[in-house]
Amino acid sequence: MKVGIDDISLYVPGFYFPLTELAKQHGIDADKYLIGIGQEKMAVPSPDEDIVSMAANAAAPLLNSAVVNSISTVILATESGIDQSKSAGMFVHGVLGLASNCRVIEIKQACYGATAGIQMAYAMIHQRPHERVLVIATDVARYQQNSEGECTQGAGAIAMIISSAPRILEIHPHQGRHSVDVMDFWRPNQHKAALVDGKLSIDVYLDSLKQSWKNYRKDGGRPLVALQHLCFHQPFTKMAKKAFSVFETIEPDAAAKIGARSYQLSQIYGREIGNCYTASLYIALLSLLDNSEEDLSNHHVGLFSYGSGSVGEFFSGTIVEGYTKHSRKGAHAAMLKYRSALSYETYQNWFYQDVAADVASYRVPTLTSGQYRFSGSEGFRRLYAPSLHLQKKAG
Ligand code: HMG
Repeated sequence: MKVGIDDISLYVPGFYFPLTELAKQHGIDADKYLIGIGQEKMAVPSPDEDIVSMAANAAAPLLNSAVVNSISTVILATESGIDQSKSAGMFVHGVLGLASNCRVIEIKQACYGATAGIQMAYAMIHQRPHERVLVIATDVARYQQNSEGECTQGAGAIAMIISSAPRILEIHPHQGRHSVDVMDFWRPNQHKAALVDGKLSIDVYLDSLKQSWKNYRKDGGRPLVALQHLCFHQPFTKMAKKAFSVFETIEPDAAAKIGARSYQLSQIYGREIGNCYTASLYIALLSLLDNSEEDLSNHHVGLFSYGSGSVGEFFSGTIVEGYTKHSRKGAHAAMLKYRSALSYETYQNWFYQDVAADVASYRVPTLTSGQYRFSGSEGFRRLYAPSLHLQKKAG
């Protein structure tokens, strides 16, 4: 049975902060960010956006009534949790009006969470092929102000339908996993921003790729020359180049054959968005699919998922014949094109603002252009609503 990604959709906030401006504020050469890190813009959520509203906005285009009625499970992956008990997926289930016989869970393993979700969905669909699973990756990547990590921040969500009749990517059964307990990146409960040992995190990521690749090959996975494309977890796009250099070291002939073109299309979206933690690898995949002028039907793609802490997994898939007919690249391109640049002051206020811990009820003005928004809190209960412009249209 073929199981894989049947449909995929991206949501990115309508605002960004240019990294040339961040470099100016930090008093450094902009090329460090543009070339050294490989980032141009950082997607910034407005105060009426969070992981739930972004997830709902990513998932909404995938949901016609036939799809809604067959979704057995919503798996939401995030490391930007908005509640310690109630899952963000449950809020999304409510906002999107999903069926009550659909189970909902939230998964956390840093940036690896969505891949865990996909592998769980893969097994679920093998068990019950008539059903679908909605996997959502949604995050706000936030580091401390003026830290080295600030230039890699970003926000966004990816939603994917996993089914037994995949129209986008058939996932192969081979898996190369590698886990090791390490403190490379973490966020203690009392911190809104992540703490990171940046250089260690890069070393651990690269070793994880090496070990995961070894395990993927041991599990019967395809040789490197049989993979036309590579998508890596991209906390910043230079990381894809660093990841490819692992193959240049351990598989020099094959790496020379497939060359840098195997990963370059996967960098285009990430450069415009920044790190989206759980969503980053799938933004790389979408970037490849949306930006290729060549029809990639039947091409094989290798994917490396990495989540600090750390879990790595190398797996692969085949792009399904006719996938372009189901592409949402026009909507994605428009979403990225029609964003507004923020001033440094607004970026700081929006990105680092927080409501005091003892404020139970408040309202948030409408700023997002997304269909769904976070509208505030009532007695510590988070509230979500269709955006005002949609309510007006409906009225
Ligand atoms: P840094 O110390 O500011 O940067 O931190 P640097 O001094 O290492 O410079 C970066 C690159 O810019 C270097 O190139 C410089 O040479 C170059 P490289 O040697 O790496 O090829 N450079 C310039 N290039 C052109 N013109 C110039 C110039 N100046 C310097 N003028 C670091 C960089 C990535 C460590 C920092 O941004 C950071 O801590 N980021 C956050 C952590 C991170 O993204 N880690 C990646 C691996 S871990 C991961 O992916 C998991 C994660 O997504 C979380 C999760 O799983 O949940 C983070």
